[in-house]
Amino acid sequence: NPLVGLVGWRGMVGSVLMDRMQAEGDFAHFEPLFFSTSNAGGTAPAMAKNETTLRDAYDIEALKRCAVILTAQGGDYTNEVYPKLRAAGWTGHWIDAASSLRMKDDAVIVLDPVNMPVIKDALSKGGRDWIGGNCTVSCMLMGVGALYKAGLVEWMSTQTYQAASGGGAQHMRELLTQYGTLNAEVRALLDDPKSAILEIDRQVIAKQRSLTAAETANFGVPLGGSLIPWIDKDLGNGQSKEEWKGMSETNKILGLGEGFGSAPIPVDGFCVRVGAMRCHSQALTFKLKKDVPVADIEAMIAADNAWVKLVPNTREATIRDLTPVATTGTLTIPVGRVRKLAMGPEYVGAFTIGDQLLWGAAEPLRRMLRILIE
Ligand code: HSE
Repeated sequence: NPLVGLVGWRGMVGSVLMDRMQAEGDFAHFEPLFFSTSNAGGTAPAMAKNETTLRDAYDIEALKRCAVILTAQGGDYTNEVYPKLRAAGWTGHWIDAASSLRMKDDAVIVLDPVNMPVIKDALSKGGRDWIGGNCTVSCMLMGVGALYKAGLVEWMSTQTYQAASGGGAQHMRELLTQYGTLNAEVRALLDDPKSAILEIDRQVIAKQRSLTAAETANFGVPLGGSLIPWIDKDLGNGQSKEEWKGMSETNKILGLGEGFGSAPIPVDGFCVRVGAMRCHSQALTFKLKKDVPVADIEAMIAADNAWVKLVPNTREATIRDLTPVATTGTLTIPVGRVRKLAMGPEYVGAFTIGDQLLWGAAEPLRRMLRILIE
Protein backbone atom coordinates (compact mmCIF):
# COMPACT_ATOMS: atom_id res chain seq x y z
CA ASN A 1 0.00 0.00 0.00
CA PRO A 2 1.27 3.49 -0.81
CA LEU A 3 2.55 5.62 2.04
CA VAL A 4 0.41 8.75 2.44
CA GLY A 5 1.65 11.60 4.66
CA LEU A 6 -1.09 13.46 6.53
CA VAL A 7 -0.38 16.99 7.80
CA GLY A 8 -2.77 19.34 9.58
CA TRP A 9 -5.23 16.56 10.39
CA ARG A 10 -6.01 17.96 13.84
CA GLY A 11 -7.37 21.40 12.82
CA MET A 12 -10.93 22.20 11.81
CA VAL A 13 -10.65 21.29 8.11
CA GLY A 14 -8.31 18.42 8.99
CA SER A 15 -10.79 16.97 11.49
CA VAL A 16 -13.64 17.12 8.98
CA LEU A 17 -11.31 15.48 6.47
CA MET A 18 -10.37 12.64 8.85
CA ASP A 19 -14.06 12.02 9.64
CA ARG A 20 -14.94 11.84 5.95
CA MET A 21 -11.97 9.56 5.19
CA GLN A 22 -13.02 7.18 7.94
CA ALA A 23 -16.66 7.27 6.82
CA GLU A 24 -15.62 6.35 3.26
CA GLY A 25 -13.13 3.67 4.29
CA ASP A 26 -10.25 5.54 2.66
CA PHE A 27 -7.69 4.27 5.17
CA ALA A 28 -8.07 0.72 3.80
CA HIS A 29 -6.34 1.87 0.62
CA PHE A 30 -3.05 3.23 1.95
CA GLU A 31 -0.58 3.27 4.81
CA PRO A 32 -0.96 6.59 6.67
CA LEU A 33 2.04 8.46 8.06
CA PHE A 34 0.85 11.16 10.46
CA PHE A 35 2.90 14.34 10.76
CA SER A 36 2.71 17.06 13.40
CA THR A 37 4.09 20.59 13.57
CA SER A 38 4.02 20.57 17.38
CA ASN A 39 4.02 17.03 18.75
CA ALA A 40 6.59 14.98 16.83
CA GLY A 41 7.33 11.74 18.69
CA GLY A 42 3.79 11.60 20.08
CA THR A 43 1.34 8.86 19.31
CA ALA A 44 -0.48 8.90 15.97
CA PRO A 45 -4.29 8.64 15.97
CA ALA A 46 -6.08 5.31 15.83
CA MET A 47 -6.17 5.21 12.03
CA ALA A 48 -2.40 4.63 11.99
CA LYS A 49 -1.36 1.07 11.11
CA ASN A 50 2.39 0.33 11.22
CA GLU A 51 3.58 3.94 11.56
CA THR A 52 2.23 4.80 15.01
CA THR A 53 4.62 7.63 15.92
CA LEU A 54 3.95 11.24 14.86
CA ARG A 55 6.68 12.57 12.57
CA ASP A 56 7.96 16.13 12.47
CA ALA A 57 6.05 17.93 9.70
CA TYR A 58 9.23 19.92 8.87
CA ASP A 59 11.38 16.78 8.46
CA ILE A 60 12.01 16.75 4.72
CA GLU A 61 13.57 13.27 4.78
CA ALA A 62 10.49 11.81 6.50
CA LEU A 63 8.15 13.64 4.10
CA LYS A 64 10.19 12.37 1.14
CA ARG A 65 9.22 8.78 1.99
CA CYS A 66 5.59 9.49 1.09
CA ALA A 67 4.07 8.73 -2.30
CA VAL A 68 1.40 11.29 -1.54
CA ILE A 69 1.26 14.13 0.99
CA LEU A 70 -2.14 15.52 1.94
CA THR A 71 -2.03 18.75 3.93
CA ALA A 72 -4.67 20.89 5.60
CA GLN A 73 -2.03 22.67 7.68
CA GLY A 74 -2.43 26.02 5.92
CA GLY A 75 -0.61 28.31 3.52
CA ASP A 76 2.36 29.22 5.72
CA TYR A 77 3.27 25.56 6.05
CA THR A 78 2.94 25.01 2.32
CA ASN A 79 5.08 28.06 1.55
CA GLU A 80 7.80 26.83 3.85
CA VAL A 81 7.87 23.09 3.16
CA TYR A 82 6.71 22.53 -0.41
CA PRO A 83 9.66 24.29 -2.16
CA LYS A 84 12.20 22.48 0.04
CA LEU A 85 10.59 19.14 -0.64
CA ARG A 86 10.60 19.60 -4.42
CA ALA A 87 14.16 21.01 -4.27
CA ALA A 88 15.16 17.84 -2.42
CA GLY A 89 14.01 15.84 -5.43
CA TRP A 90 10.65 14.58 -4.13
CA THR A 91 8.40 13.61 -7.04
CA GLY A 92 5.32 12.49 -5.12
CA HIS A 93 1.80 13.91 -5.28
CA TRP A 94 1.04 16.96 -3.15
CA ILE A 95 -2.64 17.48 -2.19
CA ASP A 96 -3.27 20.77 -0.42
CA ALA A 97 -6.22 22.71 1.02
CA ALA A 98 -4.35 26.03 1.08
CA SER A 99 -4.41 28.63 -1.67
CA SER A 100 -0.60 29.12 -1.90
CA LEU A 101 -0.04 26.92 -4.97
CA ARG A 102 -3.54 27.15 -6.47
CA MET A 103 -2.86 29.44 -9.40
CA LYS A 104 0.53 27.94 -10.36
CA ASP A 105 0.47 26.83 -13.99
CA ASP A 106 1.23 23.19 -13.22
CA ALA A 107 -1.18 22.93 -10.26
CA VAL A 108 -4.72 21.70 -10.81
CA ILE A 109 -7.63 22.95 -8.70
CA VAL A 110 -9.37 19.68 -7.90
CA LEU A 111 -13.15 19.29 -7.96
CA ASP A 112 -13.57 16.00 -9.77
CA PRO A 113 -17.37 15.95 -10.19
CA VAL A 114 -16.85 19.18 -12.15
CA ASN A 115 -13.41 18.87 -13.73
CA MET A 116 -12.42 15.20 -13.99
CA PRO A 117 -11.29 15.77 -17.62
CA VAL A 118 -8.90 18.53 -16.47
CA ILE A 119 -7.57 16.26 -13.70
CA LYS A 120 -7.10 13.29 -16.06
CA ASP A 121 -5.36 15.45 -18.62
CA ALA A 122 -2.94 16.81 -16.01
CA LEU A 123 -2.32 13.29 -14.65
CA SER A 124 -1.42 12.05 -18.14
CA LYS A 125 1.07 14.94 -18.42
CA GLY A 126 2.75 14.08 -15.12
CA GLY A 127 0.90 16.54 -12.90
CA ARG A 128 1.76 16.26 -9.21
CA ASP A 129 0.16 19.26 -7.47
CA TRP A 130 -3.54 19.00 -6.60
CA ILE A 131 -5.02 21.93 -4.77
CA GLY A 132 -8.49 22.38 -3.29
CA GLY A 133 -10.36 25.42 -4.59
CA ASN A 134 -11.73 28.40 -2.75
CA CYS A 135 -14.75 27.19 -0.79
CA THR A 136 -17.21 29.60 -2.40
CA VAL A 137 -16.11 28.66 -5.90
CA SER A 138 -16.15 24.91 -5.26
CA CYS A 139 -19.62 24.98 -3.69
CA MET A 140 -20.94 27.17 -6.52
CA LEU A 141 -19.61 24.85 -9.24
CA MET A 142 -20.95 21.75 -7.48
CA GLY A 143 -24.35 23.43 -7.70
CA VAL A 144 -24.46 25.04 -11.14
CA GLY A 145 -21.47 23.48 -12.92
CA ALA A 146 -23.94 21.96 -15.39
CA LEU A 147 -24.55 25.34 -17.01
CA TYR A 148 -20.81 25.89 -17.48
CA LYS A 149 -20.24 22.37 -18.81
CA ALA A 150 -23.02 22.95 -21.35
CA GLY A 151 -21.24 26.10 -22.54
CA LEU A 152 -24.30 28.20 -21.74
CA VAL A 153 -22.74 30.85 -19.51
CA GLU A 154 -21.82 34.20 -21.09
CA TRP A 155 -21.11 35.69 -17.66
CA MET A 156 -22.10 35.22 -14.03
CA SER A 157 -22.41 37.60 -11.11
CA THR A 158 -22.38 36.24 -7.58
CA GLN A 159 -23.34 37.92 -4.32
CA THR A 160 -22.16 35.77 -1.45
CA TYR A 161 -23.29 35.25 2.13
CA GLN A 162 -20.22 33.61 3.66
CA ALA A 163 -20.09 31.87 7.01
CA ALA A 164 -17.75 32.54 9.91
CA SER A 165 -15.98 29.20 9.45
CA GLY A 166 -14.31 30.54 6.29
CA GLY A 167 -12.12 32.60 8.58
CA GLY A 168 -11.32 29.67 10.86
CA ALA A 169 -12.36 28.06 14.13
CA GLN A 170 -11.62 31.17 16.20
CA HIS A 171 -13.93 33.21 13.99
CA MET A 172 -16.82 30.85 14.70
CA ARG A 173 -16.22 31.17 18.43
CA GLU A 174 -16.03 34.95 18.17
CA LEU A 175 -19.34 35.15 16.31
CA LEU A 176 -21.15 33.03 18.88
CA THR A 177 -19.61 34.95 21.75
CA GLN A 178 -20.82 38.21 20.22
CA TYR A 179 -24.35 36.82 19.85
CA GLY A 180 -24.25 35.83 23.51
CA THR A 181 -22.93 39.21 24.59
CA LEU A 182 -25.68 41.02 22.70
CA ASN A 183 -28.37 38.75 24.10
CA ALA A 184 -27.08 39.18 27.63
CA GLU A 185 -27.11 42.96 27.22
CA VAL A 186 -30.88 43.05 26.71
CA ARG A 187 -32.05 39.83 28.33
CA ALA A 188 -34.16 41.52 30.99
CA LEU A 189 -35.91 43.66 28.39
CA LEU A 190 -36.48 40.61 26.14
CA ASP A 191 -38.02 38.70 29.00
CA ASP A 192 -40.50 41.53 29.53
CA PRO A 193 -43.04 41.33 26.66
CA LYS A 194 -44.10 44.91 27.35
CA SER A 195 -40.63 46.41 26.94
CA ALA A 196 -40.08 48.79 24.03
CA ILE A 197 -38.37 47.27 20.97
CA LEU A 198 -36.64 50.54 20.13
CA GLU A 199 -35.07 50.55 23.58
CA ILE A 200 -33.80 47.00 22.97
CA ASP A 201 -32.47 48.09 19.60
CA ARG A 202 -30.75 51.12 21.13
CA GLN A 203 -28.99 49.02 23.74
CA VAL A 204 -27.92 46.40 21.18
CA ILE A 205 -26.36 48.91 18.81
CA ALA A 206 -24.65 50.65 21.72
CA LYS A 207 -23.16 47.30 22.76
CA GLN A 208 -22.12 46.40 19.21
CA ARG A 209 -20.37 49.75 18.85
CA SER A 210 -18.57 49.34 22.17
CA LEU A 211 -17.31 45.76 21.74
CA THR A 212 -13.67 45.66 22.79
CA ALA A 213 -10.71 44.85 20.57
CA ALA A 214 -10.57 41.44 22.26
CA GLU A 215 -14.24 40.81 21.42
CA THR A 216 -13.60 41.57 17.73
CA ALA A 217 -10.04 40.24 17.48
CA ASN A 218 -10.73 37.89 14.55
CA PHE A 219 -13.14 39.81 12.32
CA GLY A 220 -11.85 43.24 13.34
CA VAL A 221 -15.41 44.60 13.68
CA PRO A 222 -18.67 43.16 15.08
CA LEU A 223 -20.26 40.43 12.94
CA GLY A 224 -23.07 39.23 15.23
CA GLY A 225 -26.14 41.22 14.19
CA SER A 226 -24.21 42.85 11.35
CA LEU A 227 -22.35 41.87 8.15
CA ILE A 228 -18.98 42.62 6.57
CA PRO A 229 -18.90 43.27 2.81
CA TRP A 230 -15.19 42.51 2.43
CA ILE A 231 -13.42 39.12 2.61
CA ASP A 232 -9.66 38.55 2.35
CA LYS A 233 -7.07 41.07 1.15
CA ASP A 234 -7.62 44.43 -0.54
CA LEU A 235 -6.19 44.07 -4.04
CA GLY A 236 -6.04 47.84 -4.41
CA ASN A 237 -8.22 47.92 -7.52
CA GLY A 238 -11.51 48.05 -5.65
CA GLN A 239 -11.80 44.29 -5.57
CA SER A 240 -11.32 41.95 -2.61
CA LYS A 241 -9.12 38.89 -3.10
CA GLU A 242 -12.13 36.66 -2.45
CA GLU A 243 -13.94 38.38 -5.33
CA TRP A 244 -10.90 37.98 -7.60
CA LYS A 245 -10.82 34.25 -6.84
CA GLY A 246 -14.37 33.89 -8.16
CA MET A 247 -13.34 34.49 -11.75
CA SER A 248 -9.78 33.20 -11.74
CA GLU A 249 -10.55 29.92 -9.97
CA THR A 250 -13.83 29.20 -11.73
CA ASN A 251 -12.06 29.43 -15.06
CA LYS A 252 -9.04 27.46 -13.95
CA ILE A 253 -11.20 24.65 -12.54
CA LEU A 254 -13.09 24.44 -15.82
CA GLY A 255 -9.92 24.52 -17.92
CA LEU A 256 -10.81 27.89 -19.43
CA GLY A 257 -8.94 31.17 -19.72
CA GLU A 258 -5.43 32.31 -20.48
CA GLY A 259 -3.56 29.24 -19.25
CA PHE A 260 -5.71 27.07 -21.53
CA GLY A 261 -5.64 29.30 -24.60
CA SER A 262 -9.27 30.38 -24.42
CA ALA A 263 -11.23 33.43 -23.34
CA PRO A 264 -12.21 33.35 -19.66
CA ILE A 265 -15.84 33.59 -18.63
CA PRO A 266 -16.40 36.81 -16.62
CA VAL A 267 -17.41 36.08 -13.01
CA ASP A 268 -17.69 38.96 -10.56
CA GLY A 269 -19.72 40.27 -7.66
CA PHE A 270 -19.50 41.01 -3.97
CA CYS A 271 -18.34 38.65 -1.23
CA VAL A 272 -19.96 39.30 2.12
CA ARG A 273 -19.37 37.77 5.54
CA VAL A 274 -22.60 37.08 7.44
CA GLY A 275 -23.37 35.50 10.79
CA ALA A 276 -23.81 31.92 9.52
CA MET A 277 -21.68 29.17 11.02
CA ARG A 278 -20.23 26.98 8.23
CA CYS A 279 -22.34 27.20 5.08
CA HIS A 280 -21.53 29.64 2.31
CA SER A 281 -24.59 30.82 0.36
CA GLN A 282 -24.68 32.79 -2.87
CA ALA A 283 -27.20 34.52 -5.07
CA LEU A 284 -26.22 34.03 -8.72
CA THR A 285 -27.14 36.02 -11.78
CA PHE A 286 -26.40 34.39 -15.15
CA LYS A 287 -26.37 35.89 -18.56
CA LEU A 288 -26.84 32.84 -20.73
CA LYS A 289 -25.79 32.67 -24.36
CA LYS A 290 -29.36 31.85 -25.34
CA ASP A 291 -32.89 31.67 -24.01
CA VAL A 292 -33.28 28.29 -22.27
CA PRO A 293 -36.57 27.37 -20.53
CA VAL A 294 -36.41 27.31 -16.72
CA ALA A 295 -37.57 23.67 -16.67
CA ASP A 296 -34.60 22.69 -18.87
CA ILE A 297 -32.15 24.65 -16.72
CA GLU A 298 -33.50 22.97 -13.58
CA ALA A 299 -33.28 19.54 -15.18
CA MET A 300 -29.65 20.09 -16.24
CA ILE A 301 -28.68 21.26 -12.76
CA ALA A 302 -30.48 18.35 -11.07
CA ALA A 303 -28.84 15.75 -13.35
CA ASP A 304 -25.28 17.05 -13.02
CA ASN A 305 -24.02 15.10 -10.03
CA ALA A 306 -25.16 12.97 -7.11
CA TRP A 307 -25.00 15.76 -4.52
CA VAL A 308 -26.84 18.63 -6.13
CA LYS A 309 -30.45 18.96 -5.02
CA LEU A 310 -32.86 21.10 -6.99
CA VAL A 311 -35.14 23.00 -4.62
CA PRO A 312 -38.44 23.99 -6.25
CA ASN A 313 -38.81 27.75 -6.45
CA THR A 314 -41.62 28.01 -3.93
CA ARG A 315 -41.66 29.76 -0.60
CA GLU A 316 -42.32 26.57 1.33
CA ALA A 317 -39.52 24.50 -0.25
CA THR A 318 -37.08 27.40 -0.14
CA ILE A 319 -37.36 28.23 3.53
CA ARG A 320 -37.27 24.53 4.42
CA ASP A 321 -34.44 23.26 2.20
CA LEU A 322 -32.43 26.25 0.96
CA THR A 323 -30.75 27.46 4.14
CA PRO A 324 -27.44 27.01 5.94
CA VAL A 325 -29.32 25.30 8.78
CA ALA A 326 -30.73 22.67 6.37
CA THR A 327 -27.39 22.15 4.63
CA THR A 328 -24.78 22.14 7.43
CA GLY A 329 -22.97 18.85 7.94
CA THR A 330 -24.24 17.35 4.69
CA LEU A 331 -22.69 16.91 1.27
CA THR A 332 -25.92 18.08 -0.33
CA ILE A 333 -25.63 21.18 -2.50
CA PRO A 334 -29.11 22.70 -2.72
CA VAL A 335 -29.82 24.95 -5.72
CA GLY A 336 -33.08 26.87 -5.81
CA ARG A 337 -34.78 30.15 -6.68
CA VAL A 338 -34.14 29.33 -10.35
CA ARG A 339 -36.08 31.85 -12.38
CA LYS A 340 -35.89 34.22 -15.32
CA LEU A 341 -35.03 37.77 -14.28
CA ALA A 342 -36.68 40.97 -15.43
CA MET A 343 -33.68 41.98 -17.58
CA GLY A 344 -34.57 39.56 -20.37
CA PRO A 345 -34.98 35.90 -21.33
CA GLU A 346 -31.25 35.11 -21.17
CA TYR A 347 -30.96 36.39 -17.60
CA VAL A 348 -31.41 33.67 -15.00
CA GLY A 349 -31.20 33.85 -11.23
CA ALA A 350 -30.40 31.03 -8.80
CA PHE A 351 -29.42 30.61 -5.15
CA THR A 352 -27.10 27.92 -3.86
CA ILE A 353 -25.54 26.79 -0.59
CA GLY A 354 -22.72 24.49 0.44
CA ASP A 355 -21.05 23.38 3.65
CA GLN A 356 -17.73 25.14 3.26
CA LEU A 357 -15.88 22.54 5.33
CA LEU A 358 -17.15 19.61 3.23
CA TRP A 359 -17.39 20.38 -0.52
CA GLY A 360 -15.72 23.71 0.23
CA ALA A 361 -12.60 22.13 1.73
CA ALA A 362 -12.26 18.48 2.78
CA GLU A 363 -14.22 16.49 0.22
CA PRO A 364 -12.38 17.40 -3.00
CA LEU A 365 -9.07 16.53 -1.30
CA ARG A 366 -10.03 13.05 -0.10
CA ARG A 367 -11.57 12.30 -3.49
CA MET A 368 -8.33 13.34 -5.20
CA LEU A 369 -6.41 11.01 -2.91
CA ARG A 370 -8.66 8.13 -3.98
CA ILE A 371 -8.18 9.03 -7.64
CA LEU A 372 -4.40 8.88 -7.16
CA ILE A 373 -4.17 5.62 -5.20
CA GLU A 374 -6.72 3.52 -7.07
N1 HSE B 1 -11.78 32.48 1.87
C1 HSE B 1 -12.89 31.74 2.37
C2 HSE B 1 -13.65 32.51 3.40
C3 HSE B 1 -12.44 30.49 3.04
O1 HSE B 1 -13.03 33.36 4.04
O2 HSE B 1 -14.83 32.29 3.57
C4 HSE B 1 -11.89 29.36 2.31
O3 HSE B 1 -11.79 29.31 0.95
